[in-house]
Amino acid sequence: MGNLPNPRHMLIILFFSSVLRSSFSFSSALFSPPDNLLVDCGSSYSTGLNDRRIFLPDFNGDSVRLISDEPSFAVAAKNNLVLEDETYAPLYRTARVFTGSSSYVFRINNKGTHIVRLHFYPFSNSDQDLSSAQFHVVASGFVLLRNFTASANLSSSVKEFIIRVEVDELTISFVPSTFLSLAFVNAIEVISAPADLIRDTGRLVQPNNVETFNGLSNQVLETLFRVNVGGPKVTPFNDTLWRTWSPDNAFFHSNFSTKTVYFSGRIMYQKYGASREVAPDNVYNTARVLVANSSDLISRMTWSFPVNQGYRYLVRMHLCDIASLALNELYFSVYINGYLAYEDFDISAATSHYLASPYYVDFVVDAGSSGILSVSIGPSTFGESSIVNGILNGLEILKINNSVRSFDMELPIAFLVHRSTEGALTAAFRSLICWFAFVLLIVSGFMSIWRWGIQPRNHITWSPLSMNAQESQITKADQF
Ligand SMILES: *[C@@H]1O[C@H](CO)[C@@H](O)[C@H](O)[C@H]1NC(C)=O
Ligand SMILES: *[C@@H]1O[C@H](CO)[C@@H](O)[C@H](O)[C@H]1NC(C)=O
Ligand SMILES: *[C@@H]1O[C@H](CO)[C@@H](O)[C@H](O)[C@H]1NC(C)=O
Ligand SMILES: *[C@@H]1O[C@H](CO)[C@@H](O)[C@H](O)[C@H]1NC(C)=O
Ligand SMILES: *[C@@H]1O[C@H](CO)[C@@H](O)[C@H](O)[C@H]1NC(C)=O
Ligand SMILES: *[C@@H]1O[C@H](CO)[C@@H](O)[C@H](O)[C@H]1NC(C)=O
Repeated sequence: MGNLPNPRHMLIILFFSSVLRSSFSFSSALFSPPDNLLVDCGSSYSTGLNDRRIFLPDFNGDSVRLISDEPSFAVAAKNNLVLEDETYAPLYRTARVFTGSSSYVFRINNKGTHIVRLHFYPFSNSDQDLSSAQFHVVASGFVLLRNFTASANLSSSVKEFIIRVEVDELTISFVPSTFLSLAFVNAIEVISAPADLIRDTGRLVQPNNVETFNGLSNQVLETLFRVNVGGPKVTPFNDTLWRTWSPDNAFFHSNFSTKTVYFSGRIMYQKYGASREVAPDNVYNTARVLVANSSDLISRMTWSFPVNQGYRYLVRMHLCDIASLALNELYFSVYINGYLAYEDFDISAATSHYLASPYYVDFVVDAGSSGILSVSIGPSTFGESSIVNGILNGLEILKINNSVRSFDMELPIAFLVHRSTEGALTAAFRSLICWFAFVLLIVSGFMSIWRWGIQPRNHITWSPLSMNAQESQITKADQF
């Protein structure tokens, strides 16, 4: 102790660290998105999550506005929630309920790709049951959800979309399916994505060839599956963009020998490879590897996902060679829906000859009629002497919007818009009912006062009267 380091050693260390810094990004600084609009809908106070983020109420400030011609309500769950996923539980205590077409308008400071997450947790209390709500969600002229109902199983659902926003505002609209139905949402996240999250080109996999697909960054994407291969669930707390990665067990099968590997060293993020925002260390430091006899080219490890026919999908494979002991030993081929998508992929060449350096490959593929999208890895003859004949660290399956700008419909958006203006009459009818009920309530109120004298009202129930009451009042009343 006390000895100063040898200056010559210091110089050598400095030299090497500057050489390393020029090709690797060691920055552990968290990504800080220019737009980071987090809204806890229906809440009257800010809500902190264990992933270190704070969601604000939906009626404060000018970066988020709520526009609706018809009444909306803040509602709160009566009971404490018991959720499998603890991360978001604090957001699922309140919701905003819409009786007619309503929109949140988010001010966008930094144009470009944004991640939009919509949270739906259909709680019910004595006044209403959110699992009976049925509605459409539209944003930037795209139908994100059509006739959506949150599962009556009381599980939460998070819907994630990746949308490029080239204007100053992003409008997300909630449109009840029929004049009798309601729409609701518990929380919304609108977050700037790092510039390199969605590159413009991918490999379009077709039955007999692979072509370059251009214009990926102009598509709207819906995240369907995000899988940490060979590793545990990664929670928003441990992800650079607050994503959730599930384990791959439910999707994986292999008719050959595979094993999972874990790497405890440093993941070497390179300037031109995948960045830490593309996928975090926790995804790249686990993998499944194929330990096959490479002269047996029919062995495969396969992941299968249920998808909808008639749509295109972006398949992103995350690769990081944490299994080889030396460079230029790992070669493999990739098959998507059984078609050869990448022959003799050379991971060492892709990562400029570094081990433990992350890389990703984007494939674009049309779903077949089977309703299953499969991704397989098989050995390459190039890796004949290798101990490992294939690797995969992570996998993302994203649905691409169709030609009528929808994720769940063959009809253009005008169909929904038309339907909702058609609903104007029914809206008028509904407000008539509301007024009738209002008058009824007033009358019965007077009658009960007349009977019982002044009676303090300590609970506002879900009734047409509430429609005209102050939001904050309803929230307070429903908080318990
Ligand atoms: C939504 O579902 C209802 C029945 O629940 C159906 O009548 C209506 O056509 C559907 N709307 C759309 C746009 O699919
Ligand atoms: C509810 O959950 C059970 C098992 O957890 C499942 O079998 C069923 O399909 C689910 N129902 C709905 C409507 O999601
Ligand atoms: C974050 O990751 C570490 C290990 O990588 C794990 O021990 C910890 O439980 C994770 N935390 C959460 C909240 O998921
Ligand atoms: C690989 O398979 C071939 C033929 O199937 C066999 O001749 C060879 O011995 C096998 N190699 C190893 C290492 O098992
Ligand atoms: C493994 O499964 C693939 C399809 O998933 C099949 O083509 C191949 O023949 C199978 N290999 C063996 C050794 O059974
Ligand atoms: C998705 O929408 C964009 C914008 O309208 C359109 O250019 C693109 O072709 C659509 N994608 C597909 C696969 O149809």
